[in-house]
Parts: sequence; structure tokens; C-alpha cells
Amino acid sequence: MTAAGVSVALCPAKVNLRLRVLGRRPDGYHELQTVFQAIDLWDRLEATPSPELRLTCDAPGIPTDGANLVMRAAEAARSYRGIRDQGATFQLHKAIPPGGGLGGGSSDAAAAILLVDRLWNLALSPSEQHTIAASVGADVPFFLTGGTALGTGRGDIIQVLDHGAELALVLGLPPLSIGTAEVFGALPDRLTAPRVDVSVSRLWAPQKPGEFCAEEAVNDLEAVVFEGWPGLGGFRDALLETGARFALLSGSGSTVYGVYPVRERAVEAARRLGDRFPGWRVIATKTVRDGIRFESGDAGLQGA
Ligand code: C5P
Repeated sequence: MTAAGVSVALCPAKVNLRLRVLGRRPDGYHELQTVFQAIDLWDRLEATPSPELRLTCDAPGIPTDGANLVMRAAEAARSYRGIRDQGATFQLHKAIPPGGGLGGGSSDAAAAILLVDRLWNLALSPSEQHTIAASVGADVPFFLTGGTALGTGRGDIIQVLDHGAELALVLGLPPLSIGTAEVFGALPDRLTAPRVDVSVSRLWAPQKPGEFCAEEAVNDLEAVVFEGWPGLGGFRDALLETGARFALLSGSGSTVYGVYPVRERAVEAARRLGDRFPGWRVIATKTVRDGIRFESGDAGLQGA
């Protein structure tokens, strides 16, 4: 239960189990085919009704003005409905490292849309929530659903997929962040990725129902990122040496993660890699089936 008038959302991180770049678009973005997967690492966003939009954050270095996606999302919801006289005070507790390709800012933004929908009695339809989310950032719509989903277009056209088996992961976060625009901007003009329409069912190993097909785990941004930051490729190799079935860059980085057969192997690998890579944050975690969760005594909020 929360104090009267306060709504609380837990905002999951994500990894990309697959990220193919199919081509450059006239709008400057790239056409993607990606598989988003929500993971068990959460920011916490509280919202209280107030006359204006305000944000505080407990993490140093996170902007709390209009540059923060929470503020942009709330502002986008306000202008979508032409609201002038309602606001919210947000408190953001960060656990998802920023600039790591884990989607923390996008997840917080999706949560902000769902929170103000409730606070301001907007009764937004799922498609209206999606429109607002996509206007804030290409990764934001995924977090309205969470779990496992295929993202096409800019990554903002979402198709929910079966979750399959729970996957045990190790995340490695180097002491640096990488700008998404910089990575996409460094892609060669002529993209070599085949314009394949991989059927969704092929993403899951047919011989072991529910298990992700490791051969489908590719990220076309790795070539650019591992060339620019060779230490990340070194961490990928170390994940494989400690028994990861596959290891991949998440999004545009900087997080590199590995998928392990069982949780115990992941925990042990995280311990060893933490010792071997000083300065890196190494986290053992797992996939989750759901998305944004709400902690509130209020009836009617979506989620757990
Ligand atoms: O949508 P978002 O602001 O998160 O994207 C950040 C940047 O990443 C974009 O400005 C663009 O340069 C690049 N991007 C891209 N193609 C995508 C997604 C992002 O080129 N599908």
C-alpha cells in the first residue's frame, strides 16, 4: 500500500535478444527487427498529483528537467489531450544504469504515461498510449507490454511473443556509456544485413520447446561497438568462457550480457567476472514475463 494519492510503478530493464538493422529510413532512423526481453532489474517511479510537472531523482547525473524521458512522456500525454491545469510530481529511484542499452529511461517514460493516465483520469486506449509512447522514443512502446516482444519499424511496432523458458543472465556494465545516435550514425551506408523476414517461430529452438534459439541471437550493432570499444568484445569472450550459451551486446551498448543454462551457473559466472573485470558492474539476473508493475492500494491500475 502507498500513501494516499501516490501511485508507484516498477519499471523493468530490457535486453535485446536479437537486433537486425535492415536499412536506413528517410526519417533518419533505421528499420529494425529486434526481440525485446524484459529482465528482473527495476527502476521505481512514484507519482503524486500536483499543479505542475516536476521530477526528482536519487541518482547523480540524471537530468530532472525536460531532457528526462519521464518529463517528456508526461508532457506528451498532456499535449495529446490538451491538458494545461494538471501536473504530477515524480520521484525516480534508479537501479537501471543509464547509457547501457538496458532501456531504463524508456521504461520510466512508459510508466509515466500509465501513471498520468490514471492520475488525470485520461482513460487512454492502448493504441493512444502507444502513440504517445512512440512520440517519446523508439524503445518506449515495448515497455507498455513488457515480457518478450518483436519490435519492427524503428523498434516501435510491437508484437507480443511467447515468453518461452525463463533465461538466466549475466549483465556486464563497463564504466562507460555509449550514445545510441553515435552507434547508428557509424553504421556503414550500405548495410549488409539481409532483408530477412525471420519467422517468429524460428526464434525459439524447435528441438527444445520454449528455449531461445542461440543462432538467432545476433546484434548488427556489435561490429561498430566492439571496434570502437574493444574491451566490450573481451567481456563477451569471457562470458562464453564461463559457460554462457550465447553472449551479445544489448541494444547499442554498453551492456554485454550472457545467457546461461541454469541460474547457479550465472551467479557463479557473475562472481568470477566481477573479480576479473574491475570497474565493471556485473549482475546475475533473469528474464521476466511481465512489464511495468504497480504498487498501489488503488484498484483499477493495470499490472501486477
Ligand atoms: O528513439 P530514440 O531517441 O531512443 O533514438 C535515439 C537515436 O538512435 C535516434 O536519434 C537515431 O539516431 C538512432 N536510432 C536509429 N534507428 C532506430 C532507433 C534509434 O537510427 N530504429
